[in-house]
Amino acid sequence: MTVTIKLQKPDGSIIATFPAEDKQNIAQMAKNNGIDFPVSCGIWSCGVCKCKIISWNQYVQIDKISPPMRPLERSEDGTFQETFACIGGVTSEAIKDSEDHEIILEKNM
Ligand code: FES
Repeated sequence: MTVTIKLQKPDGSIIATFPAEDKQNIAQMAKNNGIDFPVSCGIWSCGVCKCKIISWNQYVQIDKISPPMRPLERSEDGTFQETFACIGGVTSEAIKDSEDHEIILEKNM
């Protein structure tokens, strides 16, 4: 149904909430909604776009746009704790799911 991305600061204050779209990276989705999201290299190299995944890790696809240049640490349940918004997105399964989901990402910006 609907997947919403909530972008928040480390202190918990909300930066923005916007709908997720398939076939786009998180940074692009944010920009589509008027958010000046920081990106630089666009290839998972510089780290400027790194976000901490607070909730619904299983719906974040870290290699949505392109494969990672280096491995990221997984938590014990196999999910990722962070993503790079220049190549990470939302799984197509979550977008097509019949339930609503809210993915919370933390970004210091
Ligand atoms: S913009 Fe450089 S890692 Fe994403």
